[in-house]
Parts: sequence; C-alpha cells; structure tokens
Amino acid sequence: MNYIIYVSTAAKPMSDSELSDILSASRKNNVSRGITGILIYRYSAEEDMGSFIQLLEGDKAAVMDTYHHIVKDSRHHSKIIIEEGQTEGRQFPDWAMGFKNIDAVDLRAVPGFTNLGKDSFDSDYFKNSSRTARETLEFFYDAD
Ligand SMILES: Cc1cc2nc3c(=O)[nH]c(=O)nc-3n(C[C@H](O)[C@H](O)[C@H](O)COP(=O)(O)O)c2cc1C
Repeated sequence: MNYIIYVSTAAKPMSDSELSDILSASRKNNVSRGITGILIYRYSAEEDMGSFIQLLEGDKAAVMDTYHHIVKDSRHHSKIIIEEGQTEGRQFPDWAMGFKNIDAVDLRAVPGFTNLGKDSFDSDYFKNSSRTARETLEFFYDAD
C-alpha cells in the first residue's frame, strides 16, 4: 500500500457546502480508484485563511493519478508534499465508506473529515513534530 500526504492552502475560506462538494466528488472517484485516506480542513480566523491536509492511500499508480488530478484544482494552491511511503495495509480503510451519508449540516460528524479549529496548517508544524505526519493523521482519525 502506498500513501502520500500533502498540505495546501484554500483559495478562499471554504463553506460547509463547498467542502461537501469536494467530499462527494472525492468519494465517487476514490471508490472507483480504490483510494482511501483522510482530508482535514482547518480555518484560521487570525489569518482568515483555510488550509488542507490530505492523505491518499492505495496502489501507487492510483495514488499518483489522484494526486495529480487534485493538484490541478484551483480551489487550493501552494501544495507541498510532506510525506510519501508504504504501509502493510490500509491505515484509513473506512474513509470512502464514511461519506455514504454525507450531508452539509453535520459534515463534521463524517468519519474522514475533521475541522480542527482555528489555526492554519503549515508544513513546518509537521517537519518540527516528533511524530510523522501519518501518525498525526492516524491520531485524528482514531479520535474522530
Ligand atoms: C483539498 C481538495 C481535496 C480533494 N480530494 C480529492 C480526492 O481525494 N479525490 C478526488 O477524486 N478528488 C478530490 N478533489 C477534487 C478534485 O480536485 C476534482 O475536482 C474532482 O476529482 C472532480 O474531478 P472531475 O471533474 O475531473 O471528475 C479534491 C479537491 C480539493 C480542493
């Protein structure tokens, strides 16, 4: 199993319905490509800016295809890959499943989606952390 983790900056602060649009397109495409993972959006009131961190896992070709697809999306910019690697099995197996009952009202209750609060993500946070980015995302996933 291959995975990739990137951070990016939202082109503008995202509403729940805009996030919901991303998640429903993701679910559809990811299921057919055998991709699972986790997407986290975080809004910083201080900077009035949103940022994303996403882990994609699956076959190497599928992960790279999906990533190259996402990179072209103008809803975010400044994408930085912070980690790539291999794992024994899927670490986030339920993500695509979790979107089955997606609805904008309780988006934050959907497994695989977490709005972490007020600060923006930045790749330095992960570089300076004692945990790998994947361990941090596993923590958020388990805490869901
Ligand atoms: C932060 C972010 C994460 C995204 N994650 C995925 C994803 O995991 N899978 C996916 O297929 N599309 C994802 N998208 C959406 C794609 O960029 C694209 O809009 C979507 O796949 C529809 O593409 P299509 O119109 O070519 O089918 C994401 C977009 C953003 C902004």
